[in-house]
Formats: sequence, structure tokens, C-alpha cells
Amino acid sequence: MKAVILVGGEGTRLRPLTYTTVKAMVPVLNKPFIEYVIRYLSNHNIKEIILALGYKPDCITDYLGDASQLGTKLIYSVETEPLGTAGAIKHAEQYIDDTFFIMNGDIFTDLNLTDMLRFHRNKGAKVTIALTPVDDPTRFGVVETDSNQRVTRFIEKPKPEQVTSNMINAGVYIVENQVLKRIPRGKRFMFERDVFPELLAEGGPVFSYATDAYWIDTGTPEQYLQLSGDLMSGKSLQVAFKPGEIRINKKTSVHPQAKLTGPILVDSHCTIGKGVQLRGPVVIGTGCTIKDDAIMENSILWQNVTIGEQATLKDCIVASNSCIVDNACIECGAIAQAEK
Ligand code: GDD
Ligand code: MG
Repeated sequence: MKAVILVGGEGTRLRPLTYTTVKAMVPVLNKPFIEYVIRYLSNHNIKEIILALGYKPDCITDYLGDASQLGTKLIYSVETEPLGTAGAIKHAEQYIDDTFFIMNGDIFTDLNLTDMLRFHRNKGAKVTIALTPVDDPTRFGVVETDSNQRVTRFIEKPKPEQVTSNMINAGVYIVENQVLKRIPRGKRFMFERDVFPELLAEGGPVFSYATDAYWIDTGTPEQYLQLSGDLMSGKSLQVAFKPGEIRINKKTSVHPQAKLTGPILVDSHCTIGKGVQLRGPVVIGTGCTIKDDAIMENSILWQNVTIGEQATLKDCIVASNSCIVDNACIECGAIAQAEK
């Protein structure tokens, strides 16, 4: 079985964090996000993954290479201009010869793909769309269904008055390859706004697979912090982090008078100074310095970040090579060092 991961987006809602990287490479518990997605697909017996890349593809290809250590074959399909979710799949058509999975590259989920495939085959579906419940459907694609799990309507980014269900498109599809015929080549085309509405208007067999498995879209700083905290409190089956656990790399020095409340993850070559308070969930990447009496709560530091003396950070994400001055007090911040 093959899968295509859509990783075209720049991640505009994660700016300024994505000034020097792309959304797919954002570190989650100190590992690039895309690694989790690849491992997840590979664990569901997907032996070949096509990465549909748009924006800054080198950031991803340089890091992943052939990804042989991730247990699956990787193919890169690079767009020279953004073709949209369906246009990107058409661009990768030469690699697709059978029923296949599509996954939005910014989704973290425990959804059971193996069971979803069984469902797809039992229903004789042309397309199966995974559904998940959310509190605010207006930011997603709302999917209406009948009692036989058949999709009756798809409304991308509905206005509040158009919301008829809290079940939304989870960004995971199983598609029969003949659907590719209806996507124009070299043109911007979307599953959400073009393919699904057209298929439904024709009465095509589009089914929905609802799940309450762990699911999150990581597109905003708030969601990204949420994912990190969730993984550290054991909400996903994919990460074994015990609630309240403190995991410090051996090559990091922690002052005996620092006060640590888990969950905390600290990578190598960091210095945690005297009187520092880390109130988990806190993740610190390699090469960071937290100077004396600084306080961090529910925050993430990427690599080589310096936090000044007595600085306070709450609900913050600090991108690599940034420096927070002494006594700074920041809440709900996404902080990056400007490129010189
Ligand atoms: N290769 C490629 N080319 N990928 C693209 C392109 C493109 O032109 N445009 C978007 N993508 C990728 C993004 O990188 C992302 O991984 C995925 O397609 C979805 O795009 P987003 O920009 O993140 O869309 P969204 O989150 O607002 O909405 C989508 O996801 C929701 C679930 O999180 C829609 O599919 C909604 O219907 C859905 O509910
Ligand atoms: Mg998204």
C-alpha cells in the first residue's frame, strides 16, 4: 500500500517560527514533525510514501534523504508552484497505481488506518474521508453524512451559520486511483473545494470513517504547544512519556538548585542555571542556556536558545538561535531571531 503526504504549505499561521524552516520540520519533542507522520504510516504497513512537496523542499529532502531508517521507501514529488491538495496528487500520478492513502502533512493522529482500509473496501467506496469531532468546525471542512456513513455534503471552512455538524474532515483519505482522472494536470485544484463537491454532486460513493482516536492539526502555535503537552501526558499511543516524567540528556548540566516539575524533556549540551524553575510541560532542544532564576512554564525551546537571568516565559515557543534578554516577561509568544 502507498500513501501520499501533502507537505506543501509554508505554515503561515506558525510565523515567525517558520521563517527559517517549514511546518513539517518543526521539532516535536526534539524530532521533526514529519518523522512521526512517516513512522505512523510505516507502522500501518505502508511500504512506499510519496512526499508531495511545495515550499522549500530542500529543508525536508536534505534531512530525510532516503529515510531508510524509518522502515519505508520515500519518493519526492516536488511542485514548482503550489498546485493545491488535488493538483499535488495529480503531479505525483506516475507513482500511484492502486488504492492509496492521502494524508495532510500537518496532522498528528492515532487513527487506525488498517481498520479504515477494511471499512473502505467493505463499503466499495471510491473515496473514504476520516472524520474527527472538533469544538470549532469553522476552521476545517465540515462533513455531513447519512445513517449508512455515506457523505452527503462537504463544506470547506463553513461560516458559523453553515455549521451543521461538529464532525470534520480529519485530513486522511483513502482514494481509488481512478479518481485521479478527474483532476486536471498542472492546474491548482483542491480536494476540499473541487473534487469532493463534484463527486458528491454526481452521487459518487464517498464514505466517512469517524474516529475518536487522538487527532490534532498542528497549524498554529497554540495547537503546536498543545500537541507537545499532549504527547508528554501520554495522550497518544505513539509516544511513551509517563505523566510527570523528567527526561534530561546526560550531556546537559542542571544546577542542583534548579526546580523541575515534570513533564520535562531536555536535550544535550544545555545548561540550566541556579534557581531556574521549569514547570512542565517544557521541551528544550540541544545547546540551550537557561540563566539563573529564569522561569519557564508550558514552553518549547528549539536549538541554541539563550534565556536571560530572571526572564519569565509562559506558553512560549522560541525558535533556534534566539536570545531572550534578562528580566524579559513573555506570555503566549512565538519568538524567532530575525535573519541578518
Ligand atoms: N504539496 C502540496 N501542494 N501540499 C499542499 C498544498 C499544495 O499546493 N496546499 C496545501 N497543502 C498541504 C499542507 O501543507 C497541509 O499539510 C495540507 O495540505 C492541508 O493544508 P492546510 O493549509 O493545513 O489546510 P487546513 O488545515 O486549513 O484545512 C485542511 O485540513 C483540515 C484538517 O486539518 C482541509 O483538508 C480541511 O478540510 C481539514 O478539515
Ligand atoms: Mg492544516
